[in-house]
Amino acid sequence: MSRFLALVPAAGSGSRFGGPSPKQYLQLNNRPLMWHTLQTLAQIEAISEVVVVISPADEWFDDFDWKLPKLKVLRVGGATRAESVRNGLLAMSAAEQDWVLVHDAARCCVSATIVERLIATLQDDAVGGLLALPVADTVKRADGETRISATVPRQGLWLAQTPQMFRAGLLLKSLEGASSPDITDEASALELAGYKPRLVEGDAQNFKVTYPRDLALARAILASRKD
Ligand code: CTP
Ligand code: MG
Repeated sequence: MSRFLALVPAAGSGSRFGGPSPKQYLQLNNRPLMWHTLQTLAQIEAISEVVVVISPADEWFDDFDWKLPKLKVLRVGGATRAESVRNGLLAMSAAEQDWVLVHDAARCCVSATIVERLIATLQDDAVGGLLALPVADTVKRADGETRISATVPRQGLWLAQTPQMFRAGLLLKSLEGASSPDITDEASALELAGYKPRLVEGDAQNFKVTYPRDLALARAILASRKD
């Protein structure tokens, strides 16, 4: 039987966020930001392993007692997110048919409910897919000087989130077949290989902490779930 494995790339430096340590280690409601991410994934019954990929030069992971079931750490992060994911896939000994759910460490407000929806929708799919949100706002294209050059019809546009769920064998083959600048998420690797990943509606709370201004919202969402 195929297993469901979570793979969490956490080897980034958080350059847009800034600060003394990478954003995944910021204290958020008394725990490192990515503890919340890992905890939510670990509580999902279908998921048998939560594999976190950190940088070989990581100085922060060992300072915290993570105390999470199913957690495995691999110090094989690379120079790009795609490389960290590929290195993690190679090191985690997944069977070709196992489903891998790749989820950004920095999306700490992911809920078990949307991940379970993703799994239920895709577990019999031939390709796999991802959580995403239909674009709700009017979309503008800027010229070089922050003036609008066009309004882009939002019909059919989605914002990609994670988890992105694919069979380990197909994902690895797709990541190895494309050069990394073209690959900003797992789905784009599959697209370049000629596949059409499925879009599954996600949730606005599943945003990626990117800038310091995102912290207050993450803190409020996590606090609201405690009770
Ligand atoms: N990531 C990774 N390896 C890299 C780069 C990113 O594992 N070489 C991870 C990050 O740790 C994060 C996820 O991929 O959990 C999404 O990336 P992003 O939000 O862009 O994080 P950073 O790359 O760390 O931030 P920035 O782009 O601002 O530097
Ligand atoms: Mg980045």
